[in-house]
Amino acid sequence: MPGIVIVGTQWGDEGKGKVVDALAGQVDMVVRYQGGNNAGHTVVLGKEVFKFHLLPSGVIYSHIVPVIAAGVVVDPEVLLSEVRELEKRGYSAEKLLISGNAHLIMPYHRKFDALSEKKLGKQAIGTTRRGIGPAYSDKAARIGIRVQDLLDLKIFRQKLEAALKEKNRVLTKVYGEKPFSVDEITAKFAEYSSKLKEKVVDTALLINQYLDEGKTVLFESAQGTFLDIDYGTYPFVTSSSPIAGGVCTGAGVPPKKISKVIGVTKAYVTRVGAGPFPTEDFGEDGDKLAQLGQEYGTTTGRKRRCGWLDIVLLKYAAMLNGLDSIVLTKMDVLSVFKRIKICVGYEYEGQVFEVYPPHQSIFHKCLPIYEEVDGWQEDISQVKSFKQLPLKARRYVKKIEKLVGLPVEAVSVGQERQQLMFPYGKIEPSEVKR
Ligand code: IMP
Repeated sequence: MPGIVIVGTQWGDEGKGKVVDALAGQVDMVVRYQGGNNAGHTVVLGKEVFKFHLLPSGVIYSHIVPVIAAGVVVDPEVLLSEVRELEKRGYSAEKLLISGNAHLIMPYHRKFDALSEKKLGKQAIGTTRRGIGPAYSDKAARIGIRVQDLLDLKIFRQKLEAALKEKNRVLTKVYGEKPFSVDEITAKFAEYSSKLKEKVVDTALLINQYLDEGKTVLFESAQGTFLDIDYGTYPFVTSSSPIAGGVCTGAGVPPKKISKVIGVTKAYVTRVGAGPFPTEDFGEDGDKLAQLGQEYGTTTGRKRRCGWLDIVLLKYAAMLNGLDSIVLTKMDVLSVFKRIKICVGYEYEGQVFEVYPPHQSIFHKCLPIYEEVDGWQEDISQVKSFKQLPLKARRYVKKIEKLVGLPVEAVSVGQERQQLMFPYGKIEPSEVKR
């Protein structure tokens, strides 16, 4: 079972980092294939909490090769500070490898991200302002600067000069801002170059070699299915392809080498930033979910919007990603509720949709159709096996399996690694050396 993909089935923040961590014992390589430091993957190990933005979650294990593949956009300043932070805590990112084809997030990308959000005013996307969209735009416009350009500072400077010619004109003439200096940026990036150059390799070649040798490679998605640039709730999306298909282009891996796709699904739904969210709960229940689930952004600290599990979206995510199974996270957060809502369809102008509506005007205005189930109303955070869960909690899991038509492979009832239970024993978390 060598090529395993971990994807988020909602709008991100489903708990993917924890699932990657749980599987770490069986894995030889963990690959980030898209996104950038807009992500925030939390891993809790006893008293230690790690929040990874760019580094693949497996980086804390000495037997794992962590890889940043071509589809990622890399802010070298953030990457190096994450590495420093890790080293201060006694860990090492020594084995980290970065694709030379990955694009760099430049200081002007961050600036343009902020300026364009400001310009959009009420229509703002609510981006993380990390420069993600502008970096991917430049990549598509073929004026991006890549990690491999750090290996030849003459070329780097030429590309920077060409890019800044236009960027500075827009910055000064349209926005009345100060221009960026070629010299200053080149000097800064020369420093990054000296620290990163040893890590730059052809990651596609290496990943494929690992897979061909029968080693296990975990592909770690950032964000979630409905933030996908093509299939998400456009324009309220990120600028990359978090879905499983993104692995093929982002990591350079053919579809045939992907043997398993696991969808990580929070037992309720959250969303950061703007955009449609049919099951959002604006009342007390939404507040309870936010408070009990500590729903504050790992990257920006923003309060997440909260609502009920949406089966219509989950079924669509299962189709898009070709999910084999689901890992249901944060089930403990639902323990306080007497009744739990599950959205099984939408209603729009008298019409019922059991599948994701064909266009956004419907999705923006549709109303959720809920089924309600009894809550279990007892603490489940210390439960060690699926069988020990209260009957009503097991019924809730079974109901999701039935509605989606997929097995729930694991259930998580708390932040810690041991609070992730694998009910059917198909995959087992194993203790690993750090
Ligand atoms: P960007 O990726 O910074 O351009 O932001 C685009 C949209 O994706 C915004 O609504 C962000 O809040 C959202 N977003 C980006 N990364 C994450 C994430 O890791 N978790 C949840 N939402 C995210």
